[in-house]
Amino acid sequence: MALTSNAGYVLIIFLSITLVSTARPFYPLPSKISHGTKQPLQTSRPFNVAHRGSNGEIPEETAAAFMRAIEEGADFIEADILSSKDGVLICFHDVTLDDTTDIADHKEFSNRNWTYDVQGVNTTGFFPVDFTFEELKTLRVKQRFAFRDQQYNGKFSIISFEEFISIALDAPRVVGIYPEIKNPVLINQHVKWPGGKRFEDKFVETLKKYGYKGSYMSKDWLKQPIFIQSFAPTSLVYISNQIDSPKIFLIDDITIPTQDTNQSYWEITSDAYLDYIKDYVVGIGPWKDTVVPVKINYMQISTDLIAKAHSHNLQVHPYTYRNDGSFLHYDFHQDPYEEYHYWINTVGVDGLFTDFPGTLHNFQEWTSPLSKEESASKLLHEIALLTTSYKN
Ligand SMILES: *[C@@H]1O[C@H](CO)[C@@H](O)[C@H](O)[C@H]1NC(C)=O
Ligand SMILES: *[C@@H]1O[C@H](CO)[C@@H](O)[C@H](O)[C@H]1NC(C)=O
Ligand SMILES: *[C@@H]1O[C@H](CO)[C@@H](O)[C@H](O)[C@H]1NC(C)=O
Repeated sequence: MALTSNAGYVLIIFLSITLVSTARPFYPLPSKISHGTKQPLQTSRPFNVAHRGSNGEIPEETAAAFMRAIEEGADFIEADILSSKDGVLICFHDVTLDDTTDIADHKEFSNRNWTYDVQGVNTTGFFPVDFTFEELKTLRVKQRFAFRDQQYNGKFSIISFEEFISIALDAPRVVGIYPEIKNPVLINQHVKWPGGKRFEDKFVETLKKYGYKGSYMSKDWLKQPIFIQSFAPTSLVYISNQIDSPKIFLIDDITIPTQDTNQSYWEITSDAYLDYIKDYVVGIGPWKDTVVPVKINYMQISTDLIAKAHSHNLQVHPYTYRNDGSFLHYDFHQDPYEEYHYWINTVGVDGLFTDFPGTLHNFQEWTSPLSKEESASKLLHEIALLTTSYKN
């Protein structure tokens, strides 16, 4: 035993010497790291979609939140795409800056507090569409919920759609993106692009610039995975002849009509509608409390929405899973793993939007570790990383 471990020790020393010197590789290894040697996207279990990044820990939609999600094992990083006044696409959720930035501390902008009609509701606040991208960059993002970690408030800025894409493409393994065409009606009302281009055109143009293309599970898609999502069916249909990337139709609460076509929840979840929309999308993204209704924080009998969607060959990626006790239904005994177990193993969803991608990743690793093939490619990737350290 002693001898073996000594031998191992010597080998480690030898390896470290080799690594720090400019010597040739210790044994033949795959060539320089490239997209080809990145650990691929896992496709054997439901997708772990990091909702606005790892926003349970770090203020939403910031570079740090997205990077943390990648570190924690997310398959996709998810972002809401809006636009600045000067037409730069940004990652930001709300139509106003009020709840998640330090805009209130910026006296220089105090005259930009405004009221606009947002989907039939008069909404007051500071709208990103009234600020240039340069002005937006002077703001700092903060945590939305008071019961979450506040230590990162004021540390990170709003980022552009392009910065978001770069974070995914620079990841050490293949990480997909899951951008939302957010509030397209409002954006197209307030922002104009040269040549009469619409928000949706600009959105697709940006994706193409970075090489996103290909249908679900195609070679191109697996290299740069993406799901395009929207609550607005008109936008999804509009872009369908511009880009063949898979699209997900988001479905809001049962009380909220679609923002562009003013259709009710019942209409868009009918068999006839799913039959229509399946020509444009690969799946739906419903709010989980409409799939399984909730009463006094207890879950009721499940609807047939998932079975219905699956019968139309549509995936289902519900939103949003959150560890916080205040968001967990009592049925789960304050245990987020129980919630994942229920949705993955009992209900059978195909993807999950989560504020805590690390928790979902751990759950999946412990309950359905990746197959040997995927572990082998992970090992290959590690070896490749080792090689790069002695390449100039
Ligand atoms: C913005 O205007 C509304 C309505 O006039 C007001 O209630 C609110 O306090 C204002 N917000 C700020 C930050 O000034
Ligand atoms: C919004 O405010 C305007 C101006 O005060 C008013 O005319 C309009 O009726 C309001 N719309 C709604 C939906 O409340
Ligand atoms: C949307 O539909 C509802 C119900 O049919 C109707 O009452 C409402 O006026 C419609 N809104 C718009 C803006 O068309």
